[in-house]
Amino acid sequence: MTTQFRSMPATQLRPPLVPAVTRGDASAAAALHTIDLCSSYGDRGVLTNVSIECPVQQVTAIMGPSGCGKSTLVKALNRTLELTPGARVTGGGVFFRDQDLYAREVDNRAVRKVIGIIHQRPQPFPMSIEENVLFGVRFHQRLTRHQRHDLVEACLQRTGLWTEVRDRLHQPAHQLSGGQQQRLCLARTLANQPEVLLMDEPCSSLDPASTERIEQLVAELKRDYTIVIVTHNVSQAKRVADRVVLMMEGQVLEQGEAEQVFDCPRTTAGADFLAGRIG
Ligand SMILES: Nc1ncnc2c1ncn2[C@@H]1O[C@H](COP(=O)(O)OP(=O)(O)O)[C@@H](O)[C@H]1O
Ligand SMILES: [Mg+2]
Repeated sequence: MTTQFRSMPATQLRPPLVPAVTRGDASAAAALHTIDLCSSYGDRGVLTNVSIECPVQQVTAIMGPSGCGKSTLVKALNRTLELTPGARVTGGGVFFRDQDLYAREVDNRAVRKVIGIIHQRPQPFPMSIEENVLFGVRFHQRLTRHQRHDLVEACLQRTGLWTEVRDRLHQPAHQLSGGQQQRLCLARTLANQPEVLLMDEPCSSLDPASTERIEQLVAELKRDYTIVIVTHNVSQAKRVADRVVLMMEGQVLEQGEAEQVFDCPRTTAGADFLAGRIG
């Protein structure tokens, strides 16, 4: 166990540490992987023996019909699942660079900083744009005014919001459009200096123009972050994904490089889902 999940120093936005890896070799390059992950809500099992790999600096799309367990899986990846009453991981494990994220000594809040999550609906907090960006950072480190300003600017630049909001940083975040709010939530997550970004259907409540903006950002951000995006939109996955995990009824139906899964799904159910005949 390294000290990574115990303390998270940093005062400015910088590219995360990424090991030298060869793209395309998923097993060597997996930033995040699960082995036989099982979870349940109360007595009801939802995930069964889910083993996936999310390679470094790639976009892994998790797809499947509504209710198949996509959100449960991504929440298990950064230990936000356990915040839901009754929800728990019942077997298997989640590993970040081979560290067991469910090991007893691991601090779940540190996990959530390194593996940030963006939810389906933008969830800005009821405070100013600037305070939203700084929200998580405040709890973890003491920054000077100057450092805070630099961090806010860097994060908003990164999500393409800076020029849109630089003159109204102290105004309430809820005054922004839905698409801007989602990019603000992304900026707030980036302020924590994560290495992995989990995005659970981040465009489902957005108009086409805002959706396109988020997809562009995903393509830009994967240079510095490992991205896992849940989408039920096959066209979107084709546009953004390097790797695809297809789920059905809490299990992995198939996974592999996007091109392979889209062009030659190995299962009939996979082909049916991708053709729009299921879900
Ligand atoms: N908080 C919860 N309590 C009980 N069951 C839940 C809860 N959240 C989700 N479920 C159930 O778990 C299954 C998987 O849900 P979810 O992970 O949200 O699927 P997806 O994101 O693929 O639509 C569904 O049957 C859903 O009804
Ligand atoms: Mg969901």
